[in-house]
Amino acid sequence: MRIYSKILGTGSQLPERIMTNADLEKIVDTDDQWIRDRTGIEQRHVAGDGETTSTLGLAAAKKALEASGLTADDIDLIVVGTTTPDLVFPSTACLIQKGLGCRGIAAMDVNAACSGSIYALGVADKFIQSGQHKRALVIGAETLTRMVDWNDRTTCVLFGDGASAIVLEGSEEPGVLSTHLHADGGYDHLLNATVGVSTGLKNEPNGGLKIRMKGNEVFKTAVTTLGRIVKETLKANNMKKTDIDWLIPHQANLRIISATAKKLSMDMDQVIVTVNKHGNTSAASVGLALDEAIRSGKVARGDVLLLEAFGGGFTWGSALIKY
Ligand code: ACO
Repeated sequence: MRIYSKILGTGSQLPERIMTNADLEKIVDTDDQWIRDRTGIEQRHVAGDGETTSTLGLAAAKKALEASGLTADDIDLIVVGTTTPDLVFPSTACLIQKGLGCRGIAAMDVNAACSGSIYALGVADKFIQSGQHKRALVIGAETLTRMVDWNDRTTCVLFGDGASAIVLEGSEEPGVLSTHLHADGGYDHLLNATVGVSTGLKNEPNGGLKIRMKGNEVFKTAVTTLGRIVKETLKANNMKKTDIDWLIPHQANLRIISATAKKLSMDMDQVIVTVNKHGNTSAASVGLALDEAIRSGKVARGDVLLLEAFGGGFTWGSALIKY
């Protein structure tokens, strides 16, 4: 008998500080209308002193455990999607594990940029399907504003910080129906971080670490690629567009989200949108949208959810879930 990963509960955590588009107008040559029209973003949360990827992830994990009626002792696997770990090592997953006090269980980070949420979910799902792990915490946590170039208006208006968490449990009842993970490293020049440990940090503020993106080209590839993965996911499950109740997309840009919804012939009221409030929180975004959808009562048990994401690498992925 197949073992499915069933979602027991979700949680999220956003930094206290909110930065509006008006705040950004004071930093770079931009305006609220441009940001709203081109991206749908109105505000984003920015991590403050003492807030890191692991502290946000830990808080989200605790809320997801509470929503599941479990304690950390019930978990036997932690997978964290992140591109902005607190440290190179220990991994963010290990730091969160320490905070939860469930020492000894497997814990790892997955770096797939903005697709980190789907990648982390895909990895945890495979571990649960194997039968070797019973309950997993899947976390997406980021502090991308720590590597944003605040002089570059083409990128600094886009990103925000936050964390989300999902508790999965092995079950005979359908849950995660399939996950689909892809990457094409040939697009590294369109979206990247400028320095790393092995290539060497620079003698510049923040070690020279900045996000660089050819937004327009990323946009076009994202729209066509997400259209393809939606088709792949439906075909793999022998499903039609109309079988999907909710689209829960990566929140990078409202125009990319709308284009994917159109390809699915879905009305926007079947799409969970949080990009206006959160900006692009990379690996945290799909989980943040899922948590909001569940806690607001929009998504109900038995609904079919299509989660998808696209990000640096390029990486992209999807998950079809019976909630
Ligand atoms: N304020 C005002 N004007 C701006 C701003 C700004 N913040 N940023 C750019 N502009 C200007 C540009 O300079 C350009 O001016 P020009 O015509 O005089 O040259 C004009 O606006 C249009 O710029 P484009 O880059 O063509 O704008 P576009 O419509 O493509 O929107 C955006 C830019 C929002 C970045 C969009 O391309 C996008 O969302 N791309 C995809 C992002 C994404 O999905 N990334 C993947 C995940 S991220 C990750 O993995 C880390």
